Amino acid sequence: LSPALVRAESLIRSIPDYPEPGIVFRDITPLLADAEALQATTEAIIAPFAGQFDVVAGIEARGFILAGAAAIAAGVGLIPIRKAGKLPRPAASVDYALEYGTATIEMHDDLPAGSRVLLIDDVLATGGTLAAGRELVERLGSHVIGISVLFEIDGLGGRDAIGDLHTVFHAS
Ligand code: PRP
Ligand code: MG
Repeated sequence: LSPALVRAESLIRSIPDYPEPGIVFRDITPLLADAEALQATTEAIIAPFAGQFDVVAGIEARGFILAGAAAIAAGVGLIPIRKAGKLPRPAASVDYALEYGTATIEMHDDLPAGSRVLLIDDVLATGGTLAAGRELVERLGSHVIGISVLFEIDGLGGRDAIGDLHTVFHAS
């Protein structure tokens, strides 16, 4: 990691017992608030895929922040993948498992067929969210050429669920 990324990682705040007892929440808001850290992490998210994608897709809600920054940095457009009921003309929906129950994400069909998509989220945990996001993009006829996240929580099976992906930081 570059010095700027080492510093950025140090800005991720660990909050014990949030949102429930026994869970350590990784809060990236101090990193986002810091200009150098936001710029360095945004560049690190897109760097391995330079020139390989036509558009980025970000997953609501926290994925939107990084995907928006990445789109500007890469000079491409942004496709929002939203939680169910938020888009006026969803063209496809995919259900996925949460710790308790299920959730649904949706997308508009605004991409030319065969578009090369870089799929972005903040965190990989079990991988359910990103697997659903990839299925959604591909169901609408585009190709997910890569998946990139700010950090991966090791030991929750996300990498097995997703396969190859790029991750800037690791947490356990
Ligand atoms: C969080 C996080 C990732 C997802 C990772 O989203 O932002 O999107 O969980 O978990 P997984 O790999 O087990 O699917 P969440 O829906 O909790 O909240 P958000 O709307 O704040 O992004
Ligand atoms: Mg999320």
